[in-house]
Amino acid sequence: MPLAFPFDPNIERAATVPARLYNDPVYLELERERIFARTWQLVGRVEQLSTHGDFITAQIGNDALVILRDTEHLRGFYNVCLHRAGPVASGCGRRKTLQCRYHGWTYGLDGTLLHAPEMEGVQNFNPAEMHLVPIQIATWGPLVFANLDGKAPPLLDVLEDIPTRVAPFHCESMRYVMRKEWDVACNWKIYVDNYLEGYHVPVIHPGLHKELDYDNYEVEPHRYFSIQHAPLRAMHGGNAAERRYDPAKTDVPEALYVWLFPNMMLNIYMGQMQTNIVIPTSHDRCKVVFEWYSANPPADPSTDAQWTKLLAFSDEIQDEDVEICEIVQRNLRSRIYDRGRYSALRENGVHHFHSLLHEFLT
Ligand code: FES
Ligand SMILES: [Fe+2]
Repeated sequence: MPLAFPFDPNIERAATVPARLYNDPVYLELERERIFARTWQLVGRVEQLSTHGDFITAQIGNDALVILRDTEHLRGFYNVCLHRAGPVASGCGRRKTLQCRYHGWTYGLDGTLLHAPEMEGVQNFNPAEMHLVPIQIATWGPLVFANLDGKAPPLLDVLEDIPTRVAPFHCESMRYVMRKEWDVACNWKIYVDNYLEGYHVPVIHPGLHKELDYDNYEVEPHRYFSIQHAPLRAMHGGNAAERRYDPAKTDVPEALYVWLFPNMMLNIYMGQMQTNIVIPTSHDRCKVVFEWYSANPPADPSTDAQWTKLLAFSDEIQDEDVEICEIVQRNLRSRIYDRGRYSALRENGVHHFHSLLHEFLT
């Protein structure tokens, strides 16, 4: 079966991408090489790297990474020792040097090999010329990103005007609150497809549907990201006590949903934001990681009344999404299904994602 697949840039004519993209492990390998190793990936938070020597470890596809602060610079390296591929860092912490856990080769925070014990007599071996392999690191607001492709465009170019658009929400001054993970039995792209349309909201999310002005829900595709505008429903009539958000109370009466190709979402509300990362763990499973940030972090979100409510609502929506995504994964294996059609009115975000898949994979 060919790896290439058909794609029509005109949504009115287009059929969705073939089911094999969600079922065949060969595409995961291709995606790791051509998508995940070439795009900016969220790997941590700036506050974890505030002091000289602070480091975190991360993983992009098959590649283990270490990201650290060396005086004013944030640096990133493959977490792979030049000797016999041991790890030069584990977990997170603060160090003056990085020492491999296998045979103790020691590297400076700039990646230079400082010390390799008992290597006397080895020819053409000069530690001063040996370096951990570097990767590109960039930050935006409280977030740290890495890119394995040395030739990738800078993060800020990829983000275009997102920073300006998001500025009224003051994300840069929000602080980390908590993290939650889900193991979902679907290909990572099913979860992303689902995120990229509001078409399913009336049917799958009755609770959320009450809050949103569905008629004015819009997806705005850009080169490498899309923005979903999900205005809150006006408070006329109805029982205001049943509503979770009061649109009259905010100066920017909108939630903003940003998706960054391929696997990151940023859900922004007044005073609060959430990052979602979708990490493929196999061709038919993914890990979804939510991290919450707040302008006024609670002392303990598990006992704070407002946060308990917010997290319960988030869980309700997430459970609804996970359930449908897992069923879709099972059905994409059906002998009778291969490709469907898009709603030109409601699924332009999904079509845009698929156009990027087509661009990167073929
Ligand atoms: S693998 Fe790192 S010192 Fe041997
Ligand atoms: Fe949903």
